Amino acid sequence: MNILVIGGTGFLGSAIVRELARRPASADFQFTLPTRRRDHAKHLLVLPTADVVDADVHDPATLARLMQGQDAVISLVGILKGGEGEPYGKGFARAHVELPQKIAAAAKAAGVRRVLHVSALKAAADAPSGYLRSKAAGEAVLQAAGLDLTIFRPSVIFGPGDAFLTLFARMARIAPFFPLAGADARFQPVWIEDVAAAVADSLHHAESIGASYDLCGPTQYSLRELVDYAAAVAGHPRFVIGLPEPIAWLQAWAMEFIPNGPMTRDNIRSMRVPSVCDSGCALPFGRSATALEIVAPTYLRR
Ligand SMILES: NC(=O)c1ccc[n+]([C@@H]2O[C@H](COP(=O)([O-])OP(=O)(O)OC[C@H]3O[C@@H](n4cnc5c(N)ncnc54)[C@H](OP(=O)(O)O)[C@@H]3O)[C@@H](O)[C@H]2O)c1
Repeated sequence: MNILVIGGTGFLGSAIVRELARRPASADFQFTLPTRRRDHAKHLLVLPTADVVDADVHDPATLARLMQGQDAVISLVGILKGGEGEPYGKGFARAHVELPQKIAAAAKAAGVRRVLHVSALKAAADAPSGYLRSKAAGEAVLQAAGLDLTIFRPSVIFGPGDAFLTLFARMARIAPFFPLAGADARFQPVWIEDVAAAVADSLHHAESIGASYDLCGPTQYSLRELVDYAAAVAGHPRFVIGLPEPIAWLQAWAMEFIPNGPMTRDNIRSMRVPSVCDSGCALPFGRSATALEIVAPTYLRR
């Protein structure tokens, strides 16, 4: 099976490729991994079944070439900073809506029917943030394309290399206390390997065609609880100060001027919606979700 993994060099894409590559039928999978910069994908170059290619996936002609001979596409490109705008900023429009549109068109033209797409939990046209609205629009364009589509909507994902618990643990190492925006926001973090397994499984489950799966871990937490936990496990317990929204807003606005700043106003709007599974934490295909407390110490303590 030839699989084009768009956004496959990142945190989740790498886990999905590794998951498929270690399954018994791994020799049957051949991956094409386009990247904007090959050095983002050093960790994948060692996989004999992965072909990392420099490519601009936003270019329709490039996408058409990449699509040739593929049996399935996994669509993973996602950004947290896409600028401000209505209904969403230009960056979100390009990465979350126009790219899925181009992927759908290229897949249809090349006769590639199977598409797995990773969106985000609580993506909705009327969500408070551009991130969530654009993710919903991306789902909608793929759904309208009439492909054999499966959508995954994870809450925040944790695991080695995450930009979440690892970031809190790192910040706790250097900061004497923790001024925190969105301290009461709710999350139900899901383990990267559970998400990767669900995506990989769906390739073998025909009933997943047309389905959307919300992916959550077993437990809901507030952001404050998660920061407390990550800091304590990393050996640097810190006092967390929840910032009132106007101050959090100002802080986020200021951080938008810092390259790679950790927070934007749009992120704060996203946190107004609890990122939790309304129907509990059942994962698809009979899997059970792994507890954060089992996995997180293995990488936060390092
Ligand atoms: N991580 C989470 O907690 C989480 C939670 C919910 C949903 N999701 C969704 O899951 C998906 C994967 O997330 P992730 O955490 O693996 O992200 P990630 O580590 O940031 O990886 C993003 C991938 O997308 C590519 N990419 C980023 N911006 C791009 C752009 N403008 N044009 C083309 N390619 C671009 C990157 O490729 P190169 O840099 O190699 O070009 C990289 O392979 C995303 O859609 C995200 O929204 C993630």
